[in-house]
Amino acid sequence: MDALGNGLLRSAVRGEADTSQAVSGHFCYGLPMKTRTKRRISNMLRNAGLWGYARALTAKIRGDERQWINGGCHSPPPHGVKMKIVKAHLKKFGIANFVETGTYLGDTLESIAKTGAKCLSIELDTKLYRFAHKRFSGWKNVELMQGNSGDLMHEVVRSLNEPTLFWLDGHYSGGITAQGHKDTPISEELSAILGHHVKGHVILIDDARCFNGMGDYPRLDQLIKQLNQHSHYCCEVSCDMVRITPIL
Ligand SMILES: C[S@@+](CC[C@H](N)C(=O)[O-])C[C@H]1O[C@@H](n2cnc3c(N)ncnc32)[C@H](O)[C@@H]1O
Repeated sequence: MDALGNGLLRSAVRGEADTSQAVSGHFCYGLPMKTRTKRRISNMLRNAGLWGYARALTAKIRGDERQWINGGCHSPPPHGVKMKIVKAHLKKFGIANFVETGTYLGDTLESIAKTGAKCLSIELDTKLYRFAHKRFSGWKNVELMQGNSGDLMHEVVRSLNEPTLFWLDGHYSGGITAQGHKDTPISEELSAILGHHVKGHVILIDDARCFNGMGDYPRLDQLIKQLNQHSHYCCEVSCDMVRITPIL
């Protein structure tokens, strides 16, 4: 047995830490090389004061998100990634108001409301609206409306005096979701928002893959061309979202 092996054996028999493996006060017993390397790295991060940061980075990317990344980010991203994108836009543009079309079960709404943003969500289906009403009773920063967001958006934007992030996701999606006279009220929603006197809004349209020119959905290239004509905004598509952001 070599010197290192002897050291480990002696320590193990005595039930002590092998100080030859100690890194800055954190002891490594007779552990496999991979584990020791991990320990060394974590100890170095701790000593450099970066442990919390590294933990946060690795803890937040897991499960379905990791799978999506490892798969090359081709499919629509998992919900968690979409929420990170929405929150990043709130932060980047310093926006404190959030308007959602299509409340559904309220998962996006809860995720954004937890940031403290003032939230409003519109749902066409009465049962889903009532469900959300119960779920958000007691939330002071959440307001709910029931009706067709294509009709209600004019009234909503009239009440706004500052830049708002719009999450446009109110469309028929099968199952328990509502089907209005159109599968998607996107044209009406966009004309209300883009016609508003405040020009610093951020508009994120979910499910960009649906914009294929079928039914009530415009074709994605037509939509982008139309949106890029608005001189205050620029438009791009990524992660299954159409992103319309103010030109700063
Ligand atoms: C894809 S789900 C929304 C998911 C939700 N935004 C989330 O991120 O958790 C679409 C929702 O839009 C609603 N909906 C359909 N047409 C609508 C319309 N014209 N106005 C408002 N909501 C509508 C459906 O009932 C359904 O709840």
